[in-house]
Amino acid sequence: MIFIIGTGIMGSAIAKALAKAGQKVLVYDKDFAKARKLNGKNIIAQKDFTELSKADFVILAVKPYHIADVAGLVRIKISAVLISIAAGVKIQKLQKFFHHKKIVRMMPNLGLAVGQGIAGWTSSALNNSREKVAVKKLLNSFTENFEVKENQLDAITAISGSGPAYFFYFAEGLEKAALNLGFDKPAARKLVEKTFSAAADLQKGKAYSELISQVASKKGTTEHAIKSFGKSGLHQIIRQAAKSAFKRAQEISNE
Ligand SMILES: NC(=O)c1ccc[n+]([C@@H]2O[C@H](COP(=O)([O-])OP(=O)(O)OC[C@H]3O[C@@H](n4cnc5c(N)ncnc54)[C@H](OP(=O)(O)O)[C@@H]3O)[C@@H](O)[C@H]2O)c1
Repeated sequence: MIFIIGTGIMGSAIAKALAKAGQKVLVYDKDFAKARKLNGKNIIAQKDFTELSKADFVILAVKPYHIADVAGLVRIKISAVLISIAAGVKIQKLQKFFHHKKIVRMMPNLGLAVGQGIAGWTSSALNNSREKVAVKKLLNSFTENFEVKENQLDAITAISGSGPAYFFYFAEGLEKAALNLGFDKPAARKLVEKTFSAAADLQKGKAYSELISQVASKKGTTEHAIKSFGKSGLHQIIRQAAKSAFKRAQEISNE
């Protein structure tokens, strides 16, 4: 049984993905009404932490600044492996807060809500042959994942953890551009949405430069747009944005 603490965006997406994979999931949120909304096949909302001691895994899915509150509330000794998805919160800090050694720190992304997640993870004090295999099996059931060193997790946060929002931000910009060219909102949205999902499907197995050249013929319209992006230093802007997400994750680590 998996016990999830925090049923916001990620906690509920993980709960649903695990339930779909056939796991029994107990969910707790400080707002019981929120947890109760998830009640259904394989998911049972909890009003307290009584069942926590029976869990095989505990997943901590609250904001980094709420972890101390949760640690204060959980008065039950945890024997399960504690999996935290909080950005920037180091294993050492989690161990201190929960007086518990067996920790997995992972950085998933919202892709798991549609069966397309990618996550990096690292662990501490797990029994290699048994617990690590069990962790890997659990993670595989709801997201693609790979093991990394703890110091790589902030970079994963900056690329794939935050990444879906970068693409949405770009799509929002393109939607505004469509409105500016005279389309109404539904038409602008449709044009962007279909282009976005087609591009996501088309990218598989090909270099991004090759994909760009498939659309941008010499002296054509796309080439003009791409040159305009280049002149504005868009790649540099993206690099800077990812760097600032990375730095923020490191700041959280030190708060
Ligand atoms: N969103 C993403 O795409 C994403 C991706 C990767 C990792 N993460 C990480 O995942 C974690 C959760 O993010 P999120 O976006 O799912 O946040 P969220 O939507 O705010 O969900 C967190 C939930 O935990 C609840 N909560 C707060 N204090 C609690 C407590 N003491 N006990 C139980 N529940 C409590 C919150 O309630 P209130 O709203 O009332 O405070 C909220 O329902 C964060 O640490 C974040 O770094 C998020």
